[in-house]
Amino acid sequence: MTQIFSRISGTGRCLPERILTNRELEKIVDTTDEWIRARTGIERRHIAADDQTTADLAEGAARQAMEAAGVAPSEIDFLVVGTTTPDVVFPNVGCLLQERLGIGGFAAFSVEAACSGFIYALSIADRFIAGGQAKRALVIGAETLSRITDWTDRSTAVIFGDGAGAVVLEPSTEAGIISTHLGADGHYKDLLYHPYGTSRRQQPDDVEGPFIHMKGNEVFKVAVKTLEGIVDETMSANDLERGSIDWLIPHQANLRIIQLTAKRLGMSMEKVILTLQDHGNTSAASVPMALDVAVRDGRVRRGDLLLLEAFGGGFTWGSALIRY
Ligand code: UT7
Repeated sequence: MTQIFSRISGTGRCLPERILTNRELEKIVDTTDEWIRARTGIERRHIAADDQTTADLAEGAARQAMEAAGVAPSEIDFLVVGTTTPDVVFPNVGCLLQERLGIGGFAAFSVEAACSGFIYALSIADRFIAGGQAKRALVIGAETLSRITDWTDRSTAVIFGDGAGAVVLEPSTEAGIISTHLGADGHYKDLLYHPYGTSRRQQPDDVEGPFIHMKGNEVFKVAVKTLEGIVDETMSANDLERGSIDWLIPHQANLRIIQLTAKRLGMSMEKVILTLQDHGNTSAASVPMALDVAVRDGRVRRGDLLLLEAFGGGFTWGSALIRY
């Protein structure tokens, strides 16, 4: 029996219109454009309008990806969204999208794995296509992190942004998605978290607000080590030599982290897709948006070997090796 792979047949992205520059942030918190550029690489980010939700951005990205793939909404039969900022607790963002796209009757759900959400979602959809249980999957990473950012905290306010990226996956006799690798370690739960949910009751001595809390410096160190591990795992699982990847498409958290990962892979920065200067850190949306940017500007071409990777709260992490 011929092995079935999944392949990316179309990509899309959606960014809110409003752009918030580092200079504007100088008026909001005690920071400088120079510090933000030097320590993160970020220059600007997009912020959702007051009435714009994660599902709005996800819908924009999904419609673009379907158009690029030449696939009608009615042909989609699997829908998974990586997000930590869903519109509501339920229905999940996938179900909200089904209603908007006028489709339904198949599995639609969200995956909550912070910045690794898209890689987790991609890995799940890949298995359903490779197993013959889905024919055309929409895989999305979408976030409105501005809603859970403390705009008085300079250590996080300068980092995050909003947006969504999407891909359509279809079956193919050739890879496609060659391998995916996922991991997590809950022991790091206190380094990067959002303390509010629906189940845990607020305690009288709780002083933390409903925002992202991050011990940035400590997260940085674990992120670098973990990403080294996951890229090594991906390369050795596929018998690849350093330098054999055409494009690194990393999670866009910090330029210095990305540079260290590229060095580990023996790749020059010309072969790394960078969007953090324009998008900031958009969590689960960052990798699919970076992929879409590089596909649309012609850098990523059919046949290229891509390495996607992400690391985020949990901690969670993941990678995907893809023949585009
Ligand atoms: O996406 C999920 C995973 N997240 C990550 O991978 C993020 C990883 N962490 C990072 O990217 C970096 O740690 C940050 C960008 C968050 C922070 O950069 P850093 O170089 O680690 O800075 P730091 O937290 O060690 O702070 C250094 C100094 C401190 O001042 P003192 O104590 O040296 O006087 C901070 O108070 O920089 C100060 N600082 C700022 N100064 C100006 C912190 N934030 C700012 C700011 N503007 N926005």
